[in-house]
Parts: sequence; structure tokens; C-alpha cells
Amino acid sequence: EKSRPEPLSAKDQGSFAFDTVNRRMPVILTRVIDASSKLASKLTEQNDHEKADDVKNVVHKLSGLKYGMETNKPLELLNDDQADTELWDKCLQETKSLVPGKDLTFYTGAWLLCECYMYRRIFQAFISSSLFKDYDPFSEQKRESFFSTMDSVKSLSENVMKCTSTLTESSSDDAVRLEFETLLQFSLWANKCDLSVSGGEIKDGQHTGMAEQLQHLKAWILVDNTSEVWELLRTIDRNADHEIHIDFVLDNAGFEVFADLCLAEFLLSLNLAKTVYFHVKNIPWFVSDASEKDIDWLIEQMKKSENNYVSQLGVRWQARFKDGSFQFKKHIYWTLAHDNSEMKATAPDLYAELSKAKLVFFKGDLNYRKLVGDRKWPHTTPFAEALWGFCPAPLCSLRTLKADVVVGLCPGQDSKAESKDKQWMVNGTNAVIQYQHNL
Ligand code: F6P
Ligand code: MG
Repeated sequence: EKSRPEPLSAKDQGSFAFDTVNRRMPVILTRVIDASSKLASKLTEQNDHEKADDVKNVVHKLSGLKYGMETNKPLELLNDDQADTELWDKCLQETKSLVPGKDLTFYTGAWLLCECYMYRRIFQAFISSSLFKDYDPFSEQKRESFFSTMDSVKSLSENVMKCTSTLTESSSDDAVRLEFETLLQFSLWANKCDLSVSGGEIKDGQHTGMAEQLQHLKAWILVDNTSEVWELLRTIDRNADHEIHIDFVLDNAGFEVFADLCLAEFLLSLNLAKTVYFHVKNIPWFVSDASEKDIDWLIEQMKKSENNYVSQLGVRWQARFKDGSFQFKKHIYWTLAHDNSEMKATAPDLYAELSKAKLVFFKGDLNYRKLVGDRKWPHTTPFAEALWGFCPAPLCSLRTLKADVVVGLCPGQDSKAESKDKQWMVNGTNAVIQYQHNL
């Protein structure tokens, strides 16, 4: 029987996983601790001692986590009382370290597990308080980042409002396909960290300017299965009486989710789906991942915009969430450390739900890592093989590379990419649009 290569891990000194555990994760955790300490001081100044003590307790817990990380202590069981506690603790008990004879720690475990674990422990610190149970320590960052992309939000809103009023079901395939590709690529590059596509370079309402920009970026798409995705959409029976829906397993809040909603709006307005499901995170996750609250906030901001296209689109999306053509979906599975090949056994309900989709978009880097098990695959491994049995429905990954795992490349493509850019796998410059119909 075939087996998979081992997972990426901080046990490999010099690897990107090592750098993440050793430097990047402590930075993120320290920021949360600092912000919480500041909050505690502010509350003390205001003589709100009950709240201040509550936050101090959170800081204490977070500092304990940081200490355990830095001193390579075994990963502790959660032992709290959340809906996912049992699954987490079972996973922590059953998972062995990747270094024989050593305990499971941040430096001996799989990177995916350790990184997810840190965010779950941050959440634990807040949920165990009395007054900060649904406090999101990353909320301010997410909001600021959205405001910084306002120029792109305006031009993309205008584009979407115009194309959804001009294109109809009877428009030519070519015209529809062109717009689809544009919105697909916006959704893709928005994962780079929002700003690359904007950078102020897209001029308001200049569709050609936008298209040119995207044309430029095409050279950086290592695998582009757009045609396969389009073929699936083009052949959808739009008059079918059964309910057709398309799912987005979302990644980041802000401009990325805005671009995802634009793509979804396009699909609905052309009757390529009746409903779009958005799978959001239940807890603050990997700093910028989108929660239901983040999206509600985004739509409120859009409605308040002085730009008519933006505000009208905000109104339209709010109505969509009301009438159910847009729907939020939540599941604890998305904030476990499991990769997607384990979904069928661990969360059969979620697997069954995804199976009913016409198409599922998996957004971003972390979702890609979960699709391919975050393992040391040779880069020419077929995408289908790396999915390791996970294909509930036709799926499409839209991902910019921010972790050193990628599959489905042609022989020699990796060395070529590396010669252009040494950091090609981790700095978000390169991207993939990978599609799998079934396994
Ligand atoms: O840059 C690496 C990283 O922190 C990874 O740990 C993670 O996969 C990724 O960023 C998150 O990116 P995204 O929001 O695209 O999933
Ligand atoms: Mg993310």
C-alpha cells in the first residue's frame, strides 16, 4: 500500500515550518499579549477592576502558552468545554511526535497541527474569561486592512455592478467567460494579501486597466485549470429544477472575501447557481481568516460608502443573506488541525454537505495545505494523488503560495520558478488554480 510523505515540521531546521514556529508564530502571539496587556492597563486606569482582572487572566494564560512554545514543552490537552474539545484532545493524544522518542512539542510535531493548536489556545484564553468570550484579538487588523484597499473595492464594485446588469443568460459564452476569468483571478490574487492587485494602480472604472494588470500576473500562475472550471460552469443546466449551489471554503476577511463575494454575485446573476454557501471560521483563526461577523461588518461598511457602486452592492448582498441566496455555513472541522483527507471519517456530515455542491472553491494557502495534507510531496505529484481520497464534489483551489508545499507542476517548473525568485514558494508571488473533477 502506498504511503504519503511525512508532514512539514519545525523539526527540520532551516525549513519554512521551522522559521514559522521559531519566529513568525511567537511574533503573532506576542502582539496579542501586548494588545491585551494594554487593554488591561487602560481598564485599570478607568477603575474598571473587574474587567481589568479578567483581561489580566487572559494575558497570564497567553504568556503560559508563549513560555511553553519557547521552551519546547509538550503540547497540553485543551481540557475545556467547547464543541470541539473532545476531537482536539483525541487528536493530541493520538498524534505522535515526528522525532522518535521525543514528546509532541512545537518543534517535533507536524507544522499544521502546531500552528492550528496555537490559534485554538489563543481562543481558549479568551473563551475562559467572563467578559471577553467573543473577543477577536485580530479584529482591528482585519478592519484596517480592508480600509486600505478601498480604491480596489470601488473599481471592482463598479465592474461587478456593470457586468451583472449587462450580461445575461443569453449573452455570448465568450463574453461571460471573459468576465468569469477576471473575477476568478481577482479572487485568486486577493489571497496574496489583498494589496498586490490594488496598489492604487487600478484606475476607477477602467476595466481595461484591470484586465491589463491581471494579464501581467498571469505569468505567475504556475498551474491554471480555469478552462476546466469554466467547462463545468458552461455546461450547467440552468433550468434544472433541483437546487444548484456552489460553495466557497473561505480564507481571509477584507479584500479577499470581498472579491470572493463578487465572484459569487456573478455566478448567481448569471443563474449558474441558485445559492452560494460561504464556509466561515467559528473562531479567530490565522490572524485574518473571515468569520460571519467580519463579513457582516464588511457589508455594513459598504452600505455606508459614499461610492454608489459600493453601497448598492452592499445593499444587494445584505438582501442576499436575508433571502438565502447567500448563506453562511459553519463547522468545527475548519478549525481543527485535520487535513481534508480525514474529513469523511471525522466529520461525515460536513463531507456529505460538500458532496451536494456543484463546485467547491477552496480559498488560500491554509486550505491548500489541508487539501494536500501539508506534506513533503515531490512537486510533480498529481493533484489528484495528493488529495488522498478527498473529493466530495468538483473542487477548485485558488491559492497564492505562502508555504513550501505545491503539487501538480511539470518537471522542471519548480527549478525555473526558483531561478526567477528564491522565495517562490512562500512569498505569495506565485499562484495556482487547481481543479479536480472527481477521484
Ligand atoms: O505565510 C505562511 C502562513 O502563515 C501559513 O502558515 C499559512 O498557511 C498562511 O500563511 C496563511 O495564509 P492564507 O491566509 O492564504 O491561508
Ligand atoms: Mg488566512
